[in-house]
Amino acid sequence: MSNTWFETVAEAQRRAKKRLPGMVYGALVAGSERGRTISDNTKAFADLGFAPRVVGHHAERDLATTIMGVESSFPVLISPTGVQAVDPEGEVAVARAAANRGVIMGLSSFASRSVEDVCAANPNVFYQMYWTGSREAMTQRMERAKKAGAKALIATLDWSFSNGRDWGSPAIPEKVDLKTMVKLAPKVATRPGWLWRFGRTGKIPDLTAPNLQPPGGEAPTFFGAYYEWMQTPPPTWEDVKWLREEWGGPFLLKGVTRVDDAKRAVDIGVTALSVSNHGGNNLDTTPATIRLLPAIAEAVGDQVEVLLDGGVRRGGDVAKALALGARAVLIGRAYLWGLAANGQAGVENVLDIMRGGLDSAVLGLGHSSVRDLSPADLHIPRDFKVTLGGGAVEDAPAS
Ligand SMILES: Cc1cc2nc3c(=O)[nH]c(=O)nc-3n(C[C@H](O)[C@H](O)[C@H](O)COP(=O)(O)O)c2cc1C
Repeated sequence: MSNTWFETVAEAQRRAKKRLPGMVYGALVAGSERGRTISDNTKAFADLGFAPRVVGHHAERDLATTIMGVESSFPVLISPTGVQAVDPEGEVAVARAAANRGVIMGLSSFASRSVEDVCAANPNVFYQMYWTGSREAMTQRMERAKKAGAKALIATLDWSFSNGRDWGSPAIPEKVDLKTMVKLAPKVATRPGWLWRFGRTGKIPDLTAPNLQPPGGEAPTFFGAYYEWMQTPPPTWEDVKWLREEWGGPFLLKGVTRVDDAKRAVDIGVTALSVSNHGGNNLDTTPATIRLLPAIAEAVGDQVEVLLDGGVRRGGDVAKALALGARAVLIGRAYLWGLAANGQAGVENVLDIMRGGLDSAVLGLGHSSVRDLSPADLHIPRDFKVTLGGGAVEDAPAS
């Protein structure tokens, strides 16, 4: 039997590419336009250097933290993503893997599995919503998530429906039924391992959004849900405040890149925010999130929990984000590659890679806790930091 364990996220991605039909792999790569943001998200992490200590290392290191009051065994969360139907168990496999590693599961409202199934697999679920549909529909979706046991709401608002990619977008069918499978057969047939996994479970990839199902109605298809979202007038800050109050519990605003927005988020009472550019899927040429983090952490880090997502591929990246002011990071593609490569075990494998790499960084930097990480642990190139929307940090011209 072949060895399914992999040692880096890059290897998981290679295996995912080999295993998945090209169009499915392309949907996970995602990105927009030139792909500049998606590549800067990872490049910027590589540009930051470590400043390790040679003696004085600690035999025991504490990696645990809390995020909006919920415990996490180390400062990494599963970022909500909408296409986990790449595996027959989808979001439930990811939720189980996260639970086994003591990690919080972010669940997309565009997920292929229900919030009830996912909450049954992991006691710590944060439910993610976009601003889509009527207020009544949003309230009903929040009530449903609350009843299922979700512990926090993630509001993702950085989306502008920009959909062209210079390298071409994959053609994803509206609904994957048997007829479509027959049509797609020539493309899918080149990936028998992937098909076999679905064949074994008797399920075919599901492209509906069960969490957006109206009471007494049918779950919309993914594209039907996307259409509703496109038709919904975008929210004002007052609307976001309404959403927070309607939810009534811990509330994370995801997608902040500017200092002035971070301050507005504090004003409307968010519990946490994530410095995020939607993994490079929103407006291309938005700078890497790790460049934007220091200014935002400096401006609001003592008032709300500041998280980051975008480009995290190893535990050392987690250490760098923490050193620059993040309380924790969310990962997206990293676990999707693990899921595609080896299902639930592949996601556990990715979380182990993250945890191991973070532990090595904390060890080598001479700390006994993730709380001790600071900018002094890093070599930060000149002009690395970028401040958007006012508020200056040292050596960063405000733009
Ligand atoms: C394929 C794909 C689907 C995504 N779907 C969602 C989603 O439904 N909701 C959401 O808030 N973010 C979504 N995101 C963004 C992620 O939550 C996260 O911000 C991003 O993946 C972080 O960057 P990384 O992939 O480099 O870790 C998606 C990202 C990808 C790659």
